[in-house]
Amino acid sequence: MSEQKPLRPVPRADVMAIDAYVPGKSGAAGVAKVFKLSSNETPLGASPSAIAAFRSVADHLEFYPDGSASRLREAIARRYGLDAAQIICGNGSDDILSLLAHAYLQPGDEGLYTQHGFLEYPIVTRAAGATPVVAAETGLTADVDQLLAKATARTKVVFLANPNNPTGTYLPFAEVKRLHAGLPAHVLLVLDAAYAEYVTRNDYASGIELVATSENVVMTRTFSKIYGLANLRLGWAYGPAHVIDAVNRIRGPFNVNGAAIEAGIAALADAGHTQKAVAHNDQWLPWLTKKIAALGIEVTPSVGNFLLLRFPGASGRTAGEADAFLTSQGFVLRAVTAYGLPDCLRMTVGTAEANEGVVAALAKFMRGERIA
Ligand SMILES: Cc1ncc(COP(=O)(O)O)c(C=O)c1O
Repeated sequence: MSEQKPLRPVPRADVMAIDAYVPGKSGAAGVAKVFKLSSNETPLGASPSAIAAFRSVADHLEFYPDGSASRLREAIARRYGLDAAQIICGNGSDDILSLLAHAYLQPGDEGLYTQHGFLEYPIVTRAAGATPVVAAETGLTADVDQLLAKATARTKVVFLANPNNPTGTYLPFAEVKRLHAGLPAHVLLVLDAAYAEYVTRNDYASGIELVATSENVVMTRTFSKIYGLANLRLGWAYGPAHVIDAVNRIRGPFNVNGAAIEAGIAALADAGHTQKAVAHNDQWLPWLTKKIAALGIEVTPSVGNFLLLRFPGASGRTAGEADAFLTSQGFVLRAVTAYGLPDCLRMTVGTAEANEGVVAALAKFMRGERIA
């Protein structure tokens, strides 16, 4: 008997095994004033000069952008002391993570990441036809020994968000170096440093030094967080020349738009704006941690611009109930069940008004007040 042909196109089975990424909610129905604290966006907005640069592009929308984003790469190189030839830009760092997975993973390979690691890692791993493998964390923090124990001959890429989203925890640079030292030379270590600018610990490093001194480390960064350009989709990576070459072969020829290029260059030049964002975070992150913990909600110490809150879980005090209550008050946080954290919510550090408002709303919730 001849094999029956399907009646419509059939995607690859590993594509259908992917749980599509669900972004943080952005609205709260029927609430007049909404504070979106669900996607780790900066409460300070973009630099005014980045906004002006974005607007300036409007007069020339008919032209393709510079496909190699040369001026932007040079501006990044100047700002971070790198070689522009070893930088690649992307349509958000998501784009770069996906390109790295497609360039280095194929069916039979494994992409390794940590238990509560960023959800894009299993998505891009599966999209490349490879198998996602999870290493247990210890105390909601990446564990180098667990990662090394899960590395097999099939492991081709290790993804490490440092600091990690949604936990806010980080690995000191000495631990990152220990991870690198324990991996075989053919494994690509991807250090996703999306929140690096917020970290003020002196034992932290984003990975630049490791990229510069090895052949198998790439660091990814984003303009979506501290630079406030999430809407423009702009990320970049710094890696060995051979990795940049491989990714350049498969990226979209114009994967970064002209508005993002101009706004990115202007944002890099406005150091005062990023300093303000760091100062704001340094003021409010400890304040929120202390105030929220005092309400009987467990707060994971974070080095990013967000906090992971664990609710007591008893009936009436679950994360789901807290989410519904906070939303009714106009505070939109991020449910993190998909990260294996069903009793938690993630909260971005917001404006003073948002932060004070969330604490007041959480106090009401913990006192047992409910949606009227
Ligand atoms: C750890 C981490 N990596 C990467 C990204 C993706 O950032 P983008 O694609 O906006 O550059 C995010 C966004 O939330 C993130 O939290």
